[in-house]
Amino acid sequence: MRAIYAGSFDPVTNGHCDIIQRAARLCDELVVAVLSNPAKVTKFTAQERLDMLQEICKDMPNVTIAAFGGLLVDFAKQQNAKVIIRGVRSAADFEYEMQMAQLNKELDPDIETLFLPSDVGLTHISSSFVKEIADFGGNIGFMVPSTVLNKMFEKNNKL
Ligand code: PNS
Repeated sequence: MRAIYAGSFDPVTNGHCDIIQRAARLCDELVVAVLSNPAKVTKFTAQERLDMLQEICKDMPNVTIAAFGGLLVDFAKQQNAKVIIRGVRSAADFEYEMQMAQLNKELDPDIETLFLPSDVGLTHISSSFVKEIADFGGNIGFMVPSTVLNKMFEKNNKL
């Protein structure tokens, strides 16, 4: 089974990394797809997000990293992936994820969404809080891999 794990990954967090590792164990091949949407303001460019994910996943032989624009179901089809993986942290996530899964199912009935419950110790982590805390000089070391920590420090301190 070839699956897709898509997201903004702005930046990738320990929560995302946990889902990547677990999804990679479940499927034969996992494509981690980074949303590249020029209309959306992001802290990290698509290339920076791709590079960080490449580094983090470099020892995972069945994981590839790609950028995509447009509809996720179209990209999944293009990649010959029949499954979309989504991590779910909370009831609030579930409502949004359910709506997205149902819409994606309407758009392409051949593609299924699988939800993975987030690890109990990682439910409070989100990319937006990582950025907010880092912008105010707080510690984000417990929320992101070291590659992201270094890149965030570089960006915020314009090194
Ligand atoms: O990490 P995120 O930001 O929660 O990921 C959301 C993402 C990228 C999976 C979602 O916004 C998406 O699929 N965007 C592509 C456009 C699309 O297919 N929209 C219809 C969704 S029902």
